[in-house]
Amino acid sequence: MKTEVITTLDIDTINRVGHMLRDGALVALPTETVYGLGANGLDSEAMERIYQAKGRPSDNPLILHVPNQDSIKRLVKDIPETAHRLMDAFWPGPLTITLPKSDIVPDKATGGLPRVALRCPDQPVCHDILMAAGVPIAAPSANISGRPSPTTAEDVLAQMDGRIEAIVDGGPCPIGVESTVVEVHDNEVIILRPGGITEAMLRTVVDNVSYDSALHSTNEVPKAPGMKYRHYAPSAPMTAYVGGVEDVGRRMYQDIVDHHQPKKTLGLLVSVPVQGWLAPLLTDYFVEWHTYASMDELARILYMALLDFDNKKVDAIYAEGVEAEDLGVAIMNRMDKSTAHHVYTVEDK
Ligand code: TXA
Ligand code: MG
Repeated sequence: MKTEVITTLDIDTINRVGHMLRDGALVALPTETVYGLGANGLDSEAMERIYQAKGRPSDNPLILHVPNQDSIKRLVKDIPETAHRLMDAFWPGPLTITLPKSDIVPDKATGGLPRVALRCPDQPVCHDILMAAGVPIAAPSANISGRPSPTTAEDVLAQMDGRIEAIVDGGPCPIGVESTVVEVHDNEVIILRPGGITEAMLRTVVDNVSYDSALHSTNEVPKAPGMKYRHYAPSAPMTAYVGGVEDVGRRMYQDIVDHHQPKKTLGLLVSVPVQGWLAPLLTDYFVEWHTYASMDELARILYMALLDFDNKKVDAIYAEGVEAEDLGVAIMNRMDKSTAHHVYTVEDK
């Protein structure tokens, strides 16, 4: 199959993409978080093709994307007041809510679960395509299962070329980590996957907000099936450190020289001040750098950097993490998975 990369985003093209999706095609779409691999969310055969293209386990349910609040009415049994308040506050935006599904939602969309995940992206091109499609669009992140999610059309093409009909290039995704997934009850919200909408933001709307306890435990089964798989993983082994600049800089430097022979290629994802501490590595190693100046910037470049390190075939990746607060909760959840739990807290002095 030849994968078409669509860069002209006029009204005719948007209508054409909407029709392709409705007719069963797989089309990668830009959202504000990461690129999604879209298919008709009412068509089980089209959704089956998503699982095949990604190599995704069939028990891992899909998020249905809609252009507005009204579109979810026919997809759910009932909309609790709490869900209305969340949608008013955060839609369009990076919040996915799960509600008991109606009969028209195929089991293929929910992996057989009784709840369906719903999200209204804050991305104008995506919104217009959802309107043109006229059906909910099932869209997991557009990566091969287990790999880092793509945040640019080029990164989608690198993983999906020949597997899908088209990619809509809407430029780089501004947030860079996936949406927050919450299970919504009458007076309670449970965070199943941390993301762009933080716990503190949810608390401005609902008092009773908690995390799925399985997120912090290795022996409980997470309520979001996707959270149990190895994920977001680059090819090279990755280690991350969190702490003060000087401590992170010294410890990272020491671990690198202790564990790697000279002339190896290292992928380093660090803040600008920590980069200074690592500059002496350049005499002995080849270094591919990605640096960031803020937590928002780290979220935006995280997956892009990991995929770039893969392309450059680095031997090992070292990253500086952030405190697990606000957006940092989502970033560190992803780093924990991409390092296979090799995240170390080093004391600030
Ligand atoms: O930002 C995002 O959410 C991106 C963009 C493309 O919208 N999509 C995305 O989809 O991250 P995906 O499939 O990569 O991750 C969806 C997560 C998985 O962990 C899945 O298990 C969980 O949401 N999920 C989906 N439906 C669910 C349901 N009915 N109950 C519990 N968890 C669900
Ligand atoms: Mg994903």
